[in-house]
Amino acid sequence: MHDTAAIMRASEVKNASFIGKEVTIRGWVHRLRKQKENSFILLRDDRGGVIQCVLPTDKAAGLTIESSVQVTGIVSQDPRAPEGGFEIKGKELKIFNIAAEYPIGEYQSDELLLDKRHLALRTRKMIAMAKVRASVLHYGRRWFVENGWMEVTAPTIVKGAVEGGSTLFKLRYFDQDAYLSQSAQLYLEAMIFSLGPVWSLTPSFRAEKSRTVRHLAEFSHLEAEAPWVTLEDILKVEEQLVSYVIQNTIKERAEELEFLKRDVSGLKKVEPPFERVPYGRAIEILRSKGFQVTEDDGTKREIQFGDDLSIDSERELTKDADKPVFVVGYPIAVKPFYVKEDPEHPGIGLTADMLAPRGFGEITSGGQREDSIDSITSRMVKEGLKPEAYEWYLDLRRYGSVPHGGFGLGIERLVRWITNAEDIKDTVLFPRTMSRVEP
Ligand code: 4AD
Repeated sequence: MHDTAAIMRASEVKNASFIGKEVTIRGWVHRLRKQKENSFILLRDDRGGVIQCVLPTDKAAGLTIESSVQVTGIVSQDPRAPEGGFEIKGKELKIFNIAAEYPIGEYQSDELLLDKRHLALRTRKMIAMAKVRASVLHYGRRWFVENGWMEVTAPTIVKGAVEGGSTLFKLRYFDQDAYLSQSAQLYLEAMIFSLGPVWSLTPSFRAEKSRTVRHLAEFSHLEAEAPWVTLEDILKVEEQLVSYVIQNTIKERAEELEFLKRDVSGLKKVEPPFERVPYGRAIEILRSKGFQVTEDDGTKREIQFGDDLSIDSERELTKDADKPVFVVGYPIAVKPFYVKEDPEHPGIGLTADMLAPRGFGEITSGGQREDSIDSITSRMVKEGLKPEAYEWYLDLRRYGSVPHGGFGLGIERLVRWITNAEDIKDTVLFPRTMSRVEP
């Protein structure tokens, strides 16, 4: 380690009590303007904060964008100084590395920024995104800790599908086939018998063959599962968790959200309860608006009971909402084998998706699990799964099965909504999509 005792950061230095004092700050040349006598460096510290440093041009002559430096100088206030009106009149400059010609300029194509993501992480936008994301993860964890849920982790190399075979990534695992996990759910279900309410944050993988602004091939999946809960209990957990995360994040990251030009007035209204719209009612609303679905062969027809909800229909249902909406009770035919059928409404599942407002679409999915071994086995067969491959999971129905349920929340979907990001790729530092597995 270099001597860090006396090193300060931009956010500390930008304070009236430092005016006239000598400080040392260390970081990277974020922007650079060289004039005849003086050079103006916008220095970015290792927390993403920036402050202008003014140095005699003969001292700063060799500097380039992203060179790493340490500046010692006197803090002064100058209304012309960008980013808060403070600057450092540099006396000493120590250079750690003169950066080669930097491939990222001020205006770059999205593709180039993705190709150079390891460098694009230094942009103000990505720094702000990363900080919002960190808060979402922090407050998500904190909600569970405060509410007595135990954190667990589950394997990500697995033998079976949870969310349908079409999005499975297959891999060779020593001398057998295995898959990358789509969801920790089945493992969490095993844990509730001895650990009670549990939650996990693990990567989930989906071989999504479509390019959309809300799908990643690898995403951060926050999942929870608890014994003896009803669908309504689960929905209460979801709305409390999401409200808590949002209110704390917009408070902690007000500056970053402002930088991202996110108007948070709608987000401030997010508090329980969220509206519950029965699936049948959602279909009625969409039909009353003449909403159409496109068949696989391209023909269009009016949406009808039994159809899954597409992103367009989700957008239609939430376009005027400020708070998320739960669509409750999807037909079990459009949901996976583990969804419990509502004993009072055959064909309907005790399940709900939370749709973020204003068209951001589904951010959680959850509900009660089928707890009868006969029903779940026949549902597996109907879905084309081999029950033999799920023997350990079926044991959970053989030995002391209880009503239980849980949900999964896509962290990137939530961050996308909070930040108003156009594309989900912006919410993750190194995105994985159909066409991108590097850097
Ligand atoms: O709706 P999904 O597929 O549900 C499950 O995986 C359940 N087994 C979860 C559970 O009950 N434990 O996924 C849950 C959430 C979605 O609502 C969405 O937010 C996110 O995970 N998600 C994705 N996020 C980004 N890219 C993808 N390809 C995603 N697929 C799902």
